[in-house]
Amino acid sequence: MGISYDRKAELIAFDETKTGVKGLVDAGITEVPRIFLVPSPENLNSDQELSLPTIDLKGIHEDPIRRKQAMEEVKDALGSWGFFQIVNHGIPVDVLEDMKKGVLGFFEQDSEVRKQWYTRDRSANRVVYNSNFDLYSAPVTNWRDSFVCRMYPNPPQPEELPPPCRDILLEYSSQVMKLGCSILELMSEALGLEPNHLWNMGCATQLQVTSHYYPPCPQPELTMGITEHTDAGFITILQQDQIGGLKVLYKDQWTHVHPIQGALVVNAGDLLQLITNDKFVSAQHKVVANKVGPRISVASFFLTDLMTQNPKVLEPIKELLSEDNPAKYRSTTGKEFLDYFYKKGLDATPALTYFKI
Ligand code: OGA
Ligand code: NI
Repeated sequence: MGISYDRKAELIAFDETKTGVKGLVDAGITEVPRIFLVPSPENLNSDQELSLPTIDLKGIHEDPIRRKQAMEEVKDALGSWGFFQIVNHGIPVDVLEDMKKGVLGFFEQDSEVRKQWYTRDRSANRVVYNSNFDLYSAPVTNWRDSFVCRMYPNPPQPEELPPPCRDILLEYSSQVMKLGCSILELMSEALGLEPNHLWNMGCATQLQVTSHYYPPCPQPELTMGITEHTDAGFITILQQDQIGGLKVLYKDQWTHVHPIQGALVVNAGDLLQLITNDKFVSAQHKVVANKVGPRISVASFFLTDLMTQNPKVLEPIKELLSEDNPAKYRSTTGKEFLDYFYKKGLDATPALTYFKI
């Protein structure tokens, strides 16, 4: 970029508006402000079109043959891509649609009302709405606003949630929780473990639902919706709308995750890669900015509990290790791991590197 400027002051000014990127777009800007500029323009065309696996979950609870098939597909997908899409996952289309509408309703409510939820305090607040959780640590600001709700282990009282998405958030997260547990079972089996192994390790202790709003961008090649990163938790279940823009790095190529109506995207996070000693991979992914929008997505992160007095030790699962396959990561706790992840902010260096032996 060359020209130096007081980035910190501009970040503070942006933060203090409390209306995020949406506020800028509502004000009619036609150029992307410099805090959002990426060092080199983004190539918005997809590279070679590879196709992310889509796994059909129909019948996995009734038919052992279907279950084994799905389990093998999960094993292959998480061992190579770290990502897959699922269909016939059991969450009704109207629940998915209502969740997107609820998110839109939150962001499109009167900005004075929306502002009241704006905060960077993750300790006290159950709902945390802001733009760029890593605003002050990331090198580049993203073209995205978000709000985060911690839905488990202690589901919030309805009145603690924003009215436009209150009921649907409770409904959606209870369904996503159930689905996540089924996927953890398939994953445990894929690792040759008892079906409840990952659940017992605490992989579904905490559910954090993060709803993203990517406003339309006047110069999409100059910025990013979300910087390339890996997710911190065990698994993420993502709902995206039909606009597209999510890309995953596979064999050194950025591959578009094409929206499929009614499908959900599942991916492994860093903590899953750590406990599986690299058997399942936490892949880099990013979202490009878009001329059209807003794009809505809802990311549900399965994490370990950070609140307990005696945090569970996380380390490569003993049953997966051998003389030829020694532990690649040191033991840690969810709290230590996530504190490090949040402090670092999103960038291309995975938090995992820090925990390598
Ligand atoms: C995330 C993420 C992708 C999307 O929230 O970690 O990668 O499509 N989101 O919003
Ligand atoms: Ni992500």
